[in-house]
Amino acid sequence: MIHEFDAVIVGAGGAGLYAALEASKTAKTAVVSKLYPQRSHTGAAQGGIGAALGNVEEDTPEWHAFDTVKGGDYLVDQNAAKILAEDAVRAVYDLENRGLPFSRLEDGKIAQRRFGGHTHHFGEGAVHRSCYAADRTGHMILQTLYQQCVKNDVQFFDEYQVVDLLLEGTTVKGIVTFELKTGELHIFKAKAVLFATGGFGRMFKITSNAHANTGDGPAILARAGIPLEDMEFFQFHPTGIRGMGILITEGVRGEGGILKNRDGERFMERYAPTLLDLAPRDMVSRAIMTEVGEGKGVRGDRKIDDYVWLDASHLGREVVEKKIPDIADFCRTYLGVDPAEEPMPVQPTAHYAMGGIPTDVDGRVDTGKQVYDGLYAAGEAACVSVHGANRLGTNSLVDLVVFGRRAGMHIAEYVKSASHGSVTEADADRARQRIDALRHRKGGRHVGPIMHRMQEVMMEKVGVYRTQEKMDQAVEEIRQLREDFKEVAVQDTGAGFNSEVLQIMELENLLDLSLITAASAANRTESRGAHAREDFPDRDDPNWLKHTMAGLDNDRVTIDFKPVDVSIWEPKPRKY
Ligand code: FUM
Repeated sequence: MIHEFDAVIVGAGGAGLYAALEASKTAKTAVVSKLYPQRSHTGAAQGGIGAALGNVEEDTPEWHAFDTVKGGDYLVDQNAAKILAEDAVRAVYDLENRGLPFSRLEDGKIAQRRFGGHTHHFGEGAVHRSCYAADRTGHMILQTLYQQCVKNDVQFFDEYQVVDLLLEGTTVKGIVTFELKTGELHIFKAKAVLFATGGFGRMFKITSNAHANTGDGPAILARAGIPLEDMEFFQFHPTGIRGMGILITEGVRGEGGILKNRDGERFMERYAPTLLDLAPRDMVSRAIMTEVGEGKGVRGDRKIDDYVWLDASHLGREVVEKKIPDIADFCRTYLGVDPAEEPMPVQPTAHYAMGGIPTDVDGRVDTGKQVYDGLYAAGEAACVSVHGANRLGTNSLVDLVVFGRRAGMHIAEYVKSASHGSVTEADADRARQRIDALRHRKGGRHVGPIMHRMQEVMMEKVGVYRTQEKMDQAVEEIRQLREDFKEVAVQDTGAGFNSEVLQIMELENLLDLSLITAASAANRTESRGAHAREDFPDRDDPNWLKHTMAGLDNDRVTIDFKPVDVSIWEPKPRKY
């Protein structure tokens, strides 16, 4: 079946919905999502959206932009960061006007809390910049934008998995999707396609990411020959629930929560004397791993389970129940721990991909050498690059709404003069053959063991601390797993709701992105942001102040580079 739209948005999280909202002002727009929109992972973002409103204390977008650049260890494109910080203020008021129920100060203004790496006066001390709706900020953004899209007649195709991109040269002509309910392939013919498929944290064993976060957009584009940017930079959030990885918002520390080691020591005093527990995430995660490595973690069942405490008990029950109610529920449900009474056991959890599909500030896919007409990306799937080597907390929600909106606005203009490419049923043949091969292969391997091994390899060898030896091993092991994957067959050969076929496609995407991530990491012989090498502990600006552009060529990863925009602030060593 062929559907025809002006614009097709793949993914129904914050970036996709905002893009759809803007595109639909001129374009007949469809949103294609493998989930029901309200289940998108934006809904899991807890602690807030950063914007220099200055509601609690003095703040400026310039300080926000500077913090973003410094937090990203100077691998951030600085004019893009400036757009992010300046437009954040408008974006928050826009969301408020569209009905988002932000938490409030006594005077009725939007409440703001402190968050890691966000400072006043270029690093003097932590600032209240994160605008929040308790610890359900992403959930509220998602609901608000979804309602607006429905009002604007955006058409939704829920539970359709994207499987292929249709290009004519470097111009987009549509996508191929797999309808979960029927197992049928649908082609969406479009003048513009935007990928907002989210992150790919499921490549790691301990992650805050939902099961659906399998990097479908970046993987499909990589297979189409588009290099991915800065894939070696994957953020570990310091406070996941021990053993499970479920996010405990940084908002806990923003409200005054404290990290402690097994001796009850506030160890961040030794690592970041000014910002303490509110240092950027890469530093806090490393500090936790160092404490654990030195035997100062709390002993779990096995050494790998060692963890530290996040203590919010001194904040009192009223603050806990009012400001972090979901966190309190998670801890009670999954751990039997009441955060108003006792500390929470936490460990770093794979949280966010700084890298992804390279775009310009209007969401157009732009490799630095080639702009693809009608092809866009936004949100975590994209790399603008405003996060550089390490994203600051709250900046993902800003990224979604600022660059999702900008991409949607560009699409709205672009489709006015663009025309449809020619599309026939034969364009789905490549996807059809892949799926048929899975269905008819006899006695093959199962998806589960390959998925589990990939997650272990990535966690152990491309985790918080890295070495050449381990990353090289990871590249080889992932290569072998990609070979094993070629023998995977489905056990369930039915057509309707065949979630096994879906899982296999997702595994293929994760394996491809794992290979690109491990190879990009093994290639960068310095430490910067979230890429922390024990064998190269220092940042090396003369040789490495550049973006990695990694292409997938069968089982080889090709590496190229792109310059970083450092036109506003001179790169300096980071101190907090
Ligand atoms: O800690 C958090 O609430 C996460 C926010 C983020 O990743 O921006």
